[in-house]
Amino acid sequence: RTDGTTDYYEITARPGLARIVPGHDTEVWGYQALFPGPTIESRSGRRTVVTHRNELPHPTVVHLHGGHTPHDSDGYPMDLIAPLGGGSGGPGGSGMAGMAGMGSAANVKPERVYDYPMNQRAATLWYHDHTMGFTGPQVYRGLAGFHLVRDDEEASLGLPQGARELPLMLADRAFAADGSFAYPALDPSEMKPGVTTPYMNGVLGDVILVNGAPWPFAPVDRARYRLRILNASNARRYRLELDPQPPGGGGLLQIGSDGGLLARPVAHDGIELAPAERFDVVVDFSRYPAGSSVRLVNRLGSGSTAEVMRFDIGSAQVSDDSRVPGGTLAEVEKLDPAKAVATRTFVFNKSKENWTINGEEYRPGHSLASPKLGQIEVWRFVTDFHHPVHLHLDPFQVISRNAADPGEYDAGWKDTVDVLPAQGVEVAVRFSDYAGRFLLHCHNLEHEDMAMMAEFTTQ
Ligand code: C2O
Ligand code: CU
Ligand code: CU
Repeated sequence: RTDGTTDYYEITARPGLARIVPGHDTEVWGYQALFPGPTIESRSGRRTVVTHRNELPHPTVVHLHGGHTPHDSDGYPMDLIAPLGGGSGGPGGSGMAGMAGMGSAANVKPERVYDYPMNQRAATLWYHDHTMGFTGPQVYRGLAGFHLVRDDEEASLGLPQGARELPLMLADRAFAADGSFAYPALDPSEMKPGVTTPYMNGVLGDVILVNGAPWPFAPVDRARYRLRILNASNARRYRLELDPQPPGGGGLLQIGSDGGLLARPVAHDGIELAPAERFDVVVDFSRYPAGSSVRLVNRLGSGSTAEVMRFDIGSAQVSDDSRVPGGTLAEVEKLDPAKAVATRTFVFNKSKENWTINGEEYRPGHSLASPKLGQIEVWRFVTDFHHPVHLHLDPFQVISRNAADPGEYDAGWKDTVDVLPAQGVEVAVRFSDYAGRFLLHCHNLEHEDMAMMAEFTTQ
C-alpha cells in the first residue's frame, strides 16, 4: 500500500516449508514463510513503514541493516515482538523461561510497526532478526531478506536493471538427514544465550545457498548484469571469483559497497566478503563465448564445494543499452579524519566463556561511547581474531588497516568492516539525525549472541 508520502508493507514471520535438498522439505522460519524474505524497495527520502507480525513460537526483533533509522525502529534487541499467543512459549510451548526476564510478555504485542525515514543514498540493505541472544539461530532458520533503496543519482546512470539486476543472498547451511537445517541447539527448549559454546568461532554449513537454493544456475543474456551480492551467512567468509575469468580479467566490476555507489568503479578478479558485507558488481557476460557457462566460485575456507552458482550464457544476439560510466559514478563525500573531534578504541576479544568488546560482555542499557551528532570521529577496531565489525545508524569510511592504506575491498561507505586477526582498522564516522542508543557489534552471529555487542548513545 502506498499514499502520497509513504510506502506501507505488512510482513508476517511464520514457519514454512522449502524444497532445498532433493526429496525432503526443510522447515524455515521466514518473513512471509519465505527464505529469503520478500524484497522491499524504497525510494530515497520516501518514508517506508513496515508492520512486522510474529507467528513463530519465539520472540523476534527486526533490524534493517544499513538503515539510517531512529532508535525506536532500529530493532533494539530487547524490543521483542512477542510470539503468537503472546505468552512465554507459544504453540511449541517450550522453555521460554530463559526469556522471562526480558520484558513482561503481557504487554508485548505480536506485532510492531517499524517506521523508516529512508533519508539515505541508494544502497543494498537487508533486514534480519536481531533478538537478544538468539540472532544466530533465528537468521539461520531463514529470517533475512533484501531491502533495496533507489535514488535519482543512481537511476540516471543507466546501470543494468529489470531482469538484469540480480540480488544474490549467500548463506551457508548444514542439513540433517531429514532435510532440516542443522544448527546446534536448534530445539528452542535448548536455546539459551551462550549454549553455542562448542561453536566458539561461529556456525558454518557445508552447503552454500544462493537465495535459498544450493548451486543454482541462472540463464543470462550476453549482456551486462548487476549482481547485488550479500553475505548473509552467520560466520562464513567468501572470496568470490568468476571461473573462467573473462579475457583480460577484472570480471567483477565493483560499482557499490554496503553504503551505495562508489565514486568510481573498481575492477576485481575476486572479491572478499565477511558476514553482512555487500558488494554491488557488474558482470559483462558478452565477454564470454555465446553458449558457454561461467561459475561463481568461492576460494576461501574449506568444508564446502567451490561452486556457488552458475551462469549459462545464451547464444542469441541481444541488445544491451546499459552502461557503467568509466569515470565518476557518484559524488561521494570524503570524511576528513583530521577533523575528528574524538578517537575511540574498541578491542574485540575473547573472555572465558564469551566474546567481549573492551573487556565487557553486552549489557543492554550500558553505553560505551557518547558520540555527538554531526561530528566526525575516528573509531579504531582492534582484535586478535577475525571479526566483522558492524555499526548501526550510519555508515563509515575505512581510513587505515594495520596503519597502512585500506585494502582494495574497503572502498566507499561501509557499515561492516572485516577486521582480521592482529589487525587494527581505523574508520571515520559521523553519526547524524537521531539521538539515542545504537549498537556496535561483531556480525559473526554466534559472536554477537555470545555477547560481542555494545551500545553507544548519540547526543
Ligand atoms: Cu546486521 Cu546489528 O546487524
Ligand atoms: Cu545493522
Ligand atoms: Cu566476532
